[in-house]
Amino acid sequence: MKHANYSFDFDVFDSIDDLRKDEADLLQQARALTANAYAPYSNFCVAAVALLNNGEIVKGTNQENASFPVGVCAERALLGSTAALFPDAFIEVMAISYHNHNGTSNLPISPCGMCRQALLEHENRYHHPVRLILSGMDGEVYVIASAGLLLPLSFTGEDLVR
Ligand code: THU
Repeated sequence: MKHANYSFDFDVFDSIDDLRKDEADLLQQARALTANAYAPYSNFCVAAVALLNNGEIVKGTNQENASFPVGVCAERALLGSTAALFPDAFIEVMAISYHNHNGTSNLPISPCGMCRQALLEHENRYHHPVRLILSGMDGEVYVIASAGLLLPLSFTGEDLVR
């Protein structure tokens, strides 16, 4: 028997004021974009804003539905738009924020499991890490060098052809 371990490093900033200017701008856009979420059922408004390698900015917000499983997260809304609008481009960095109408929003959230899988597919497709900037409407900011770090022992296309 062998014991295996997985851990990863990420940066924690006290506030948006401590970020690089370009990444602070992206997070500021994500915070503002939470106003465009459609989340009448959860009241949990999420927004994602990404900078692509071609310099374009792409945005997504969560879109809920009366039939709850139909809803889509902000991150996957953004990934879909990116693929449709700029199929040859890839995401360099994605800022994610949220506004929780039911309470405070000063802790970062990180992408749900399904979005982690979708982000990993994007990284593998373009052979490039997606850097994540995670924060609520204020407070600490987590900066993670690659979305794939959030999904250890992941299932990928390579597993299908082994
Ligand atoms: N949600 C996102 O859009 N992104 C996340 O990273 C976590 C959750 C959405 C899904 C649903 O509309 C609402 O937040 C509550 O789960």
